[in-house]
Amino acid sequence: MKIARFSKVGFILAAAGSAVGLGNIWKFPYITGEYGGGAFVLIYLITVLLIGFSIMIAEMLIGYLGRRDTVSSFEELAPRNKHLWKFGGFQALAGLFVMIYYSVVIGWIFNYIVSALSGLPSSVDEAKTVFTTMLHSDFKTQLFYHTASFMIITFVVARGIKGGIEKLNMVLMPMLFIIVGVMFLYATTLDGFHQAMEFMFKPDFSKINSTAFVTAVGHAFFTLSLGMGAIMTYSASLEKDQNIVKSSLIVVALDTGIALFAGLMLFTFLYQYGGEPSSGPGLVFISLPSVFYQMGVLGNVFAVMFFISLAFAGLTSAVSLTEPMVQYFIDRFSWSRLKSSIMMGLFFYLVGIIAILSHIDGFASYLTWGSRNFFDWVDFLTAAFMLPAGGLIMAVFVGYVLPKSQVEKVLRPQLGRAFGTWYFSLRYIAPIALVIVMLNLVGIL
Ligand code: TRP
Repeated sequence: MKIARFSKVGFILAAAGSAVGLGNIWKFPYITGEYGGGAFVLIYLITVLLIGFSIMIAEMLIGYLGRRDTVSSFEELAPRNKHLWKFGGFQALAGLFVMIYYSVVIGWIFNYIVSALSGLPSSVDEAKTVFTTMLHSDFKTQLFYHTASFMIITFVVARGIKGGIEKLNMVLMPMLFIIVGVMFLYATTLDGFHQAMEFMFKPDFSKINSTAFVTAVGHAFFTLSLGMGAIMTYSASLEKDQNIVKSSLIVVALDTGIALFAGLMLFTFLYQYGGEPSSGPGLVFISLPSVFYQMGVLGNVFAVMFFISLAFAGLTSAVSLTEPMVQYFIDRFSWSRLKSSIMMGLFFYLVGIIAILSHIDGFASYLTWGSRNFFDWVDFLTAAFMLPAGGLIMAVFVGYVLPKSQVEKVLRPQLGRAFGTWYFSLRYIAPIALVIVMLNLVGIL
């Protein structure tokens, strides 16, 4: 089968575009705030280096060797029990599940870009009212922007790896770097910057418990786009002579860099203008707009820039979450790309409407089970369970199932003396950490 290949830079930007997403700019700052800063950041950084980086190399290797959709790659590469291992490829489904709420959140961001153009809430209370009104009673606005998000994502994916995904990333990613860079530089000139540095880099281990640890590990996976076949699907379109280790390193560095810059910038603004670092998921939708208001005209410009960068980060990740299943139906069922993109798009679009409704007054009670509504369940089950499961499957597959000689042949020249360390981390450290994370979430530990 003929596959359009990424250019070298195109692949790195697309993989970085996948990794740098809402997880970096929306989620990372608020969980850092919730778990008290420095110590949490340190655990996250260690996990990214020790486990995330190893699994990223493994996931790229499967795509690189398999060269097909995730299911076929597992099936073809498995030396035996092919019919069983092919289920490893169904981790791609998780990406489509994430899209159910990811598209809705991108919709909120679109809405915030448009409303930041006309004005900002003047206090935290007002900002809270704006956000909760949208969330709980404004179905129409959410549906409108969710529809826009669905249309953009489907359009890009339908245009394919080269003409759609690579192009989108080649344009949006440099712009994202520039916007975050400019805002970060401005933040360094403010007094609040020192407090922000202290908050993020001075570890206070009294704030760390097992939940913080598990959250850090889970987030390291989410932010690097691991465990759902996204990186694997992209690397199936790699040039044969692309260096997997170098590519992984660049992607990990860019992803971590953006998370740290975005975090420092947000906390600087919050300290400077008196917001709360620990305000949870509402951080960028509630605290931040009222902080921008206090910055005057510049704040208005920054608010628009900030939400645009968030939208860019979200869109480039969204296409990577959708592409694996699109590729699956093209490869296995000979669907046209257009048909496959529209079908996958319709899936997350329609189920996404249920996610919107699960916050809307009058519907919410029917769409809530236990402590979570539909939206939160999808987030929880994918990030907390499916993602580590996908990671575990890959660690076992590359670490134990693939013949060592096959793995070594590709990676020994690229890793050199570090090969042994990588292989050890993949076989022992990563699986153990992942099992602990999963057990903890199921509530056994
Ligand atoms: N990494 C993205 C973020 O930080 C989310 C994401 C995109 C993702 N593709 C993925 C997560 C694949 C897991 C797997 O927002």
